[in-house]
Amino acid sequence: MEKVNIGRTELTVNPLGLGTNKIGGYNLFPNLDDEMGKQVVQTAIDHDVEMIDTAFMYGFGHSEELIGDVLKNNDREKVILATKGAQQIAADRSVTLNNNPEFLTQAVDESLKRLQTDYLDIYYIHFPDQNTPKAEAVGALQRLREAGKIRAIGISNFSLEQIKEADADGYVDLVENQYNLLQQDAMHEVVPYLKERGITFVPYEPFAAALLTGRYSPDNLPHFDEGDHRLSIDLYQPDQLKRNVEKVEKLKPIASRYGVSTAQLVLAWYMKNPLIGPVIPGARTTEQLLANVASVSIALRDEDYQAIDHIFASANL
Ligand SMILES: NC(=O)c1ccc[n+]([C@@H]2O[C@H](COP(=O)([O-])OP(=O)(O)OC[C@H]3O[C@@H](n4cnc5c(N)ncnc54)[C@H](OP(=O)(O)O)[C@@H]3O)[C@@H](O)[C@H]2O)c1
Repeated sequence: MEKVNIGRTELTVNPLGLGTNKIGGYNLFPNLDDEMGKQVVQTAIDHDVEMIDTAFMYGFGHSEELIGDVLKNNDREKVILATKGAQQIAADRSVTLNNNPEFLTQAVDESLKRLQTDYLDIYYIHFPDQNTPKAEAVGALQRLREAGKIRAIGISNFSLEQIKEADADGYVDLVENQYNLLQQDAMHEVVPYLKERGITFVPYEPFAAALLTGRYSPDNLPHFDEGDHRLSIDLYQPDQLKRNVEKVEKLKPIASRYGVSTAQLVLAWYMKNPLIGPVIPGARTTEQLLANVASVSIALRDEDYQAIDHIFASANL
């Protein structure tokens, strides 16, 4: 499988990575098991998954700590380690976004400690704040690159205008924004712009909160208890949910022709898409991780790639 370039750097990475908000992200998801999370990370490294995507916000540093515990027993150079910051936490645990250069510089140092390493391959500004000029925030990361603490600069959840402002000096290597077959807004303007500028696009939530894994069907729609955050997501509103599940249903015969699962087929589609950089599906268990790793060897034919594109084309409007 061909490696993917990281922005304007010399770095390359295998196309299938690992998202880790369910490894230590206890503030975002219930019932997470730390030992299982560490096992997922170790199994990923053992199977040549190079990009590991974490963030301070996943467990307020706990995800980074768990990954650091695993990393210290492995060859650091086997991993392309990406983390993110921008959240300032008050004593009452309320969160304020902060892209101030001093804050980001301190946040990088703290991430390095938790991850038990002396360099980060990629550091993202996780969300833009209201006040800091974007090029100033990125300039702080450029100084950290010059100091050898980070190797590539990323921004996440930035709009097209904010990306242009942030990249005024040409320092941005990656943008990580939401994109999946059911939520294709990023393809309108952002992704073509990134391609033109040589900036790598990392789509997050490739399975659209598990809707694209094929675990649901028209006879088996998900039901959520009151308070479940998915009740507030557009994709899960009753009218959209039915339409979305029907679209995903159309993937199943294609997947079965390849002898793979719907989730694996979806990953193969992303990896064949020239506009998309590394894919970072989250995995809660080693079984999910190994299934995702196996998608690397699917040779998706052009006609099936286009058929899948066509099924989800209306998500592009
Ligand atoms: N930059 C940002 O602001 C931002 C925001 C969100 C996410 N992210 C990053 O993007 C990564 C990916 O997003 P995500 O983890 O939220 O969502 P996702 O990748 O769309 O979905 C992950 C979930 O899909 C299910 N799954 C995974 N592999 C499967 C398989 N082979 N078969 C069946 N089900 C499978 C699991 O659901 P269950 O847990 O229900 O089993 C897993 O937790 C995150 O981990 C994080 O690193 C970044």
